[in-house]
Amino acid sequence: LIRESIAQELKSSVMEVTESFSITEHLETVFAQAFAIAFPEYGNVPVIIAPVNSASAKYGDYQCNNAMGLAKKMKEMGVNKTPREIANELLKACPASPIINKLEVGGAGFVNVFLSKDYAAKALQNILRSGIKPPRVPKQRVLVDFSSPNIAKQMHVGHLRSTIIGESISRLLEFLQHDVIRINHIGDWGTQFGMLIAHLEDRFPDFLNVSPPIGDLQSFYKESKKRFDTDEEFKKRAYNRVVSLQNGEANSRKAWTLICDVSRKEFQTIYDRLDITVKERGESFYQSHMLSVVDFLRKKNMLEEDEGRQIMWSDEGKSGVPLTIVKSDGGFTYDTSDMAAIRHRIDEEQCTWIIYVVDSGQSTHFNTIFKAAERCGILNPTIHRVNHVQFGVVLGEDGKKFKTRSGDTVKLSDLLNEGMKRSLEQLSSRGRDKILTPDELIEAQEAVAYGCIKYSDLSHNRISDYVFSFDKMLDDRGNTAVYLLYTYTRICSISRKLSEDVSNLKTILDTVEIVLDHEKEWKLAKTLLKIHDILLKCSKDLFLHFLCEFCFEVCAVFTEFYDSCYCIKKNKDGEIVEVNYSRILMCEATAAVLRQCFYILGLKPVSKL
Ligand code: ARG
Repeated sequence: LIRESIAQELKSSVMEVTESFSITEHLETVFAQAFAIAFPEYGNVPVIIAPVNSASAKYGDYQCNNAMGLAKKMKEMGVNKTPREIANELLKACPASPIINKLEVGGAGFVNVFLSKDYAAKALQNILRSGIKPPRVPKQRVLVDFSSPNIAKQMHVGHLRSTIIGESISRLLEFLQHDVIRINHIGDWGTQFGMLIAHLEDRFPDFLNVSPPIGDLQSFYKESKKRFDTDEEFKKRAYNRVVSLQNGEANSRKAWTLICDVSRKEFQTIYDRLDITVKERGESFYQSHMLSVVDFLRKKNMLEEDEGRQIMWSDEGKSGVPLTIVKSDGGFTYDTSDMAAIRHRIDEEQCTWIIYVVDSGQSTHFNTIFKAAERCGILNPTIHRVNHVQFGVVLGEDGKKFKTRSGDTVKLSDLLNEGMKRSLEQLSSRGRDKILTPDELIEAQEAVAYGCIKYSDLSHNRISDYVFSFDKMLDDRGNTAVYLLYTYTRICSISRKLSEDVSNLKTILDTVEIVLDHEKEWKLAKTLLKIHDILLKCSKDLFLHFLCEFCFEVCAVFTEFYDSCYCIKKNKDGEIVEVNYSRILMCEATAAVLRQCFYILGLKPVSKL
């Protein structure tokens, strides 16, 4: 009786979420119920569900792998049962689920799950009717700190990685219905502004009335640094300017704004080209918060004097490196601004999840900040989640740090221009410049250029260093944006061949049901329905290469399907003699799944390429 009611409950919960649930999570619930019924005394064992490699489809689509471990555990408790016996008991205790067609015990004691084609067809039809619905997760207020270049310095490839990864993480979490705040924590504060302002006063005394023509802010920075290091009088004045800037003195403030504007414009052109949305809230924003966090830490007895500095240890045992909260000259540091920022994000922004997309070189810094924030009571790990989403360095094709031939840091705008040039060459080599209209060509060129730069970054495990190579990213055979974009346009072109307009799928959906009889149709359906699992997997540890691998798999499986299943049959004269509308629907569902993934990865799908 209990089993029946559980089965009923499950059934209704499945019906309700058919449009948007993770198959793995659903099977975990099914097997957790089975555990509770068959082995109540081992009820809290975590259920292990794994998808079965499609090459072994005869063993099912997913399997529950718990029996082997459980047999061992039972043996320790003096109960002798073989894994196969256990698997059989689990199987019998499984409540009915509309997504399961049959269960079988196989091998050493796996419970093999065969998915229901009925359910799969319905789920795909749902996708076509109402789009891909996000899997349900508890909603959080998340702040993503990404991009974060520094004023007057070059925005380099490290910032490019942060920008690309941060944008995609934001898109992913937004799709999962989180409340996402995207923050650009620009380095716009600190002692270097003293020398920049002092130098500006000397070079452009008229700066209050006439906007100074500082196109090349980096050389301006270098000049001022040189004077700062060699000229004592200048150095003194620079220190003065820092103080007046922090006190809000009008002229220094104006000079600072002018300098920041130059960088800001440069950053914005990069963001516009790459379709990046991020709100600027630089270090300067936290000036008053730094004053109050210092106060807060002092009251909590967290600060310790060290050769004139005020430092804070992140743990009482004083291990690791302490944070420098106040310098001996009274100034604040990168540490101070991050302590102020985390406090603001938790207390005022009410975030329960904060994500820092910053290179691996800063992992000690962030670990110390997180521990210190916990120690002084800003962060409560049972409520707040913090992640340093770290990434490796970008290497050139020679395996060394990415540099120009002359050894300088690569300017991002030059890099994007080079991408545009190479992308046009790629398209021309396929004769696309002759087929596409000028507008279509530009659209394609941008989609390929920016898409390949983003995708080659996202498709590698972000923790490792990665080699930046236009040749590799523009290869149309590997796991590249070019390959995905071409496959997508190929799918779009299929329904374009039909004489009728299928852009309104509703009419077809009302009269045609998806049929999954052919082995390749079934394989494609099962692949597409993994999307919810994959999105959850990506959000768990914030790794986007899983989504890239999934796109690659979808394209490969689609190609297998298209090679062996006709969608449109033509006669010798090229006239359409038969259309398989179920398969047309499969093509459209594939396109819908890819579009959703492309959006998260920042790829622009073009219908002609
Ligand atoms: N501006 C810093 C840099 O270029 C990155 C800032 C990252 N965010 C933060 N909250 N510390 O290295």
